[in-house]
Amino acid sequence: MLAIIGGTGMAQLACLEISHRQIMRTPYGEPSGPLTFGKINDNKVVFLARHGYGHTIPPHEVNYRANLWALQSLDLSRVISVASVGGIRADLTPGMIAIPDQIIDYTHGRKYTYHEGLDRSVTHIDFTEPYCHLTRNGLLRAAKRANERVIDGGVYGATQGPRLETAAEISRMERDGVDMVGMTGMPEAALAKELGLCYATIAVVANYAAGRKTSARAIRLEDAHAVLKQAMVGVRNILEHVVEL
Ligand code: HPA
Repeated sequence: MLAIIGGTGMAQLACLEISHRQIMRTPYGEPSGPLTFGKINDNKVVFLARHGYGHTIPPHEVNYRANLWALQSLDLSRVISVASVGGIRADLTPGMIAIPDQIIDYTHGRKYTYHEGLDRSVTHIDFTEPYCHLTRNGLLRAAKRANERVIDGGVYGATQGPRLETAAEISRMERDGVDMVGMTGMPEAALAKELGLCYATIAVVANYAAGRKTSARAIRLEDAHAVLKQAMVGVRNILEHVVEL
């Protein structure tokens, strides 16, 4: 079974033939919402809306540990996360889709590990490659079959939010080598790795990052939502082809 975590612009998965929903509890609390089970093209899929079904949970309040724990308790092969981002690199323009291959974490104060508490041994997971290359390759192949253009690779910078960044913060991130900026990529990817889940992200560029090419020098969320709505058609198309593999 494949798991899909939907982000902003994907509170539901239109192509999913739903069989049932299940409320889960974990030692870390409740996930963002019930898990939705179903099929896409006869392949089993479980879907979870990261921000809740009514999009009520902001990025810094998502219970990432509960979300990943709930998914891990199922018999899963892969986890695909869909996440909206601001584009920093010149070719990451609104509407583009990228499959990032690296992460820089700028978040703070989040519950970012399962390895805490006196009863736990000291554990350092390897995080050299934050995303699962099999899942990334599956997504790239699916995009090819679906005839959707995607950018292979890129550095995802995870910010704390919920506010957007300053122009100077984006310039600093660019100097760090960040290509796209979002608020949910971490600790999600690291928690997935701690649990041994094969995890990769489809990043959808909703807007130019702060201070990049916006003539108004401000990010208009209405515009970003319209871009996401359109781009999610391409994401769904890719997802339909992933599960065919
Ligand atoms: N910054 C941070 N997160 C985002 C952005 C952005 O510009 N766009 C979508 N998610």
